[in-house]
Order: sequence, then structure tokens, then C-alpha cells
Amino acid sequence: YKILILQGPNLNRLGKREPGHYGTRTLAEIHEEIEALGKSEGFLPVFFQSNHEGAIVDRIHAAGEDGTHGAVANLGAYTHTSIAIRDAFLSVEIPVVEVHLSNVFRRESFRATSLVSDIAVGTIGGLGPVVYRLGLLGLLDHLQRKAP
Ligand code: DQA
Repeated sequence: YKILILQGPNLNRLGKREPGHYGTRTLAEIHEEIEALGKSEGFLPVFFQSNHEGAIVDRIHAAGEDGTHGAVANLGAYTHTSIAIRDAFLSVEIPVVEVHLSNVFRRESFRATSLVSDIAVGTIGGLGPVVYRLGLLGLLDHLQRKAP
């Protein structure tokens, strides 16, 4: 399986950014772990991080055309605001698992709303970087059950 790992705004700052909420591991370190998980679980991760809403929309459209089987997405603050990113997922036939490092329900009330949760196959949050591993395993299970 070819899996898009989609990282939204400010996630390039992981490691330095609000470690109380997001921990001290960098995005590169998290991606190395995903790379290793891909080798053991038999999927090919393709990584994309952007701070720009339109670039994320374009990448989702591209995934709809390039044989991508599914996506694990941490959309950062766009989770709570972006109808355009929601619509981009609805425009392609790619299952998405939503992940968040922090527990968005324990924070400001505006983080409790997600514009993607109801179109995602599942959501995992609040456990730190392990959410990517859990999200990927859940997505793979979903893809295998869907396959004939
Ligand atoms: C986040 C939670 C969002 O509310 C926030 O804007 C982020 C990161 C998380 O991984 O916990 O940028 O998606």
C-alpha cells in the first residue's frame, strides 16, 4: 500500500514547538519511525508537510490520481477551520485517518471541533507520536478489510 502521511501547518516545528503539548521529537524522527514501520508492515509511506492550505488541497488531489491507497493526516489548526481541505478529501476516493499528537478535547474549546472527523475512517489523538503508528495500523486494517 502507498500511504500519504500528510502533515499540516506548524508541524515542521515539532521538537521546538510547545513541547508540553507536542513532545520533543522532531518531525524527521517521527518520519524515520514511520519509514521503519512501513518496512515491517509492508506499506510505502509518502511524506508531505505544508503550512499552506492550498498546497495541502493540491496534494490531496494529486493523491487521488497517483495510486495512493490511503492517508494519515495531522492537519494541525486547519483541522478546525478548513472546509477546503474537507472538500478536497471528499473529492477523492482515499480513506483518511485523522491524528493529533495532543488531546484536542483537553485544550481550548475551538480545538474540540474538527471538520474532518465525520468523513475520516477514524480519529486518534492525545497520545503523542504513537498516534501515527496507531493510525497507520488502523488504516491498514481498514484497507485489508475493504480489499476483496
Ligand atoms: C494538533 C492539534 C491542533 O489543534 C493544533 O492546531 C496543531 C496540532 C495536534 O497534533 O495535536 O497544530 O493537530
